[in-house]
Amino acid sequence: MADADSRTGLRYGTPEVTSFVDHLHAAHDPALDAAFRAAADHGFPAIQLAPSEGRLVEMLASMIQARRVVEIGTLTGYSAIRLARGLAPGGLLWTIERDPAHAAVAKRRIADAGFADRVEVLEGDAMLELPPLAELGPFDLVFLDADKGRYDQYGRWAHANLREGGVLLADNAYFFGRLLEDDPDADAMRRFHEEAAERFRTVCIPTPDGLLLGVKRGASAAVQSPP
Ligand SMILES: C[S@@+](CC[C@H](N)C(=O)[O-])C[C@H]1O[C@@H](n2cnc3c(N)ncnc32)[C@H](O)[C@@H]1O
Repeated sequence: MADADSRTGLRYGTPEVTSFVDHLHAAHDPALDAAFRAAADHGFPAIQLAPSEGRLVEMLASMIQARRVVEIGTLTGYSAIRLARGLAPGGLLWTIERDPAHAAVAKRRIADAGFADRVEVLEGDAMLELPPLAELGPFDLVFLDADKGRYDQYGRWAHANLREGGVLLADNAYFFGRLLEDDPDADAMRRFHEEAAERFRTVCIPTPDGLLLGVKRGASAAVQSPP
């Protein structure tokens, strides 16, 4: 159930409640813990997914038996390790990171987690890395977690390069609460939402900053299935 307060955005997840459920459902082993702590340890912004969000992307990848996954925005590899744990046998993840210091730490964390042979960290700006990556598609899942002002462009790339039924995930879909502001990056994020709603079956999961989930419509599904 929801109630009037929760419908308007009130959250019942106090730090204590969040800690209790994270411990039970999204616990870290040493490899995840090292990747999670690496950003703070290296003086980078600690802007990785929360444990339950990480567990969610891992489970979604696993539920669709993802074999080919792209992530934009690696930081120190926490969500990459989560996604890699959700891959089907033989599956591969390409994760793009433009900051060389972040990429270097991520490569170490990913290798220590045992995924050096299944996860490739592509060091560079996503706008340059995505076009050649298209040759390795179509992909089963694309996860956006980088510069928010380009989500509209990343969303178009994802639509062009996901298979029918493939999954789009995008973190910070509320744009830190600024989604409705009159600002070029907020405009881009709203365009991203609007285009995603046209091209995918979508829901914006009300995580603290919104996680957009889309399933790519096929030509026939667009006509036959409910919106
Ligand atoms: C929010 S963090 C990613 C967190 C990571 N997905 C996780 O949950 O563990 C965003 C990262 O995207 C990178 N980034 C931002 N703009 C980028 C771009 N245009 N191309 C590639 N990486 C970018 C930043 O350097 C930063 O490391």
